[in-house]
Amino acid sequence: MPHVLTAAELPVAELLRRADDWRTRLQANPTPPVQPRAALIALLFYEPSTRTRAAFEQASVLLGYHPLVITAEASSVAKGESLHDTVRTLCAQGVRAIVMRHPQAGAPQAAAQVATAPILNAGDGAHEHPTQAMLDLYTLWRHFGMPDPATRWLTGRKVAIVGDIRHSRVARSNLTLLTQAGAEVWLCAPPTLMPDAPLPNAMLTHDADAAVANADVVMALRLQTERMQQGLLPSLNAYRRDYQINAERLRRAKPECIVMHPGPIQRGIEIDDAVADGAQSRILEQVRNGVYVRAATLAYALGE
Ligand code: NCD
Repeated sequence: MPHVLTAAELPVAELLRRADDWRTRLQANPTPPVQPRAALIALLFYEPSTRTRAAFEQASVLLGYHPLVITAEASSVAKGESLHDTVRTLCAQGVRAIVMRHPQAGAPQAAAQVATAPILNAGDGAHEHPTQAMLDLYTLWRHFGMPDPATRWLTGRKVAIVGDIRHSRVARSNLTLLTQAGAEVWLCAPPTLMPDAPLPNAMLTHDADAAVANADVVMALRLQTERMQQGLLPSLNAYRRDYQINAERLRRAKPECIVMHPGPIQRGIEIDDAVADGAQSRILEQVRNGVYVRAATLAYALGE
């Protein structure tokens, strides 16, 4: 029973192939017949979510399971139940897996200590978001022509991740998978939004023009104001001027550079409309790929 807690433990090559099988299957028939099972996958969401939650719900349905969505506000968590007791309760009811999003780093690891079903981390604090990194990697793998995943197939490619690195679990999980595949990863943020702890194997910069220069891939990140202490971002206008991914800044990248964003987008702040909706944007493709990757990852965790 493999848990899926961090990007480093993902069987990347296997998941790329399995995700691609889902793409083929769903492109041939977007509503394939499924054999329904009388079993639940719990989606335990202690933080808001649109695309991650919808993708895991769809993945559950595609595998024949019923998704049981539990949000913190509408559950016994609001009555003071501990995470361990919630997880024990769901396992006692026979859920086959628990997909979990939590504001605290390490919460999925804590859940895994008492769970009798696999735990899938759908984002924990500013720590990890393994399936997001996996769907980003899948998007790049398709973009670069599906090279042999056993090789360091991103060697020679520059990926610039620009935005609120400090609070970003997406940046951390992506850094693991991208460097594993050989990419040169630049992490760019204003000084107050750079993490205190060192991030290995990355180029760190406060200069967005330098980060974007000659990049093959630019990934913009949302300002996670819900995680910010006051005063980390003195001026939104200065942030726009210095860090927004817009057409002018993007001209410094390679002409064929693609633009990614895990969503949700805050239009006009970290990215402007012309780029978000432009020809170089892969944002909606990332969303679609999220379904294939979650179906692949859920099946893997279930041992199917
Ligand atoms: C991200 C998250 O929740 O970590 N979104 C997502 O899962 N697609 C990024 C964010 O909230 O900005």
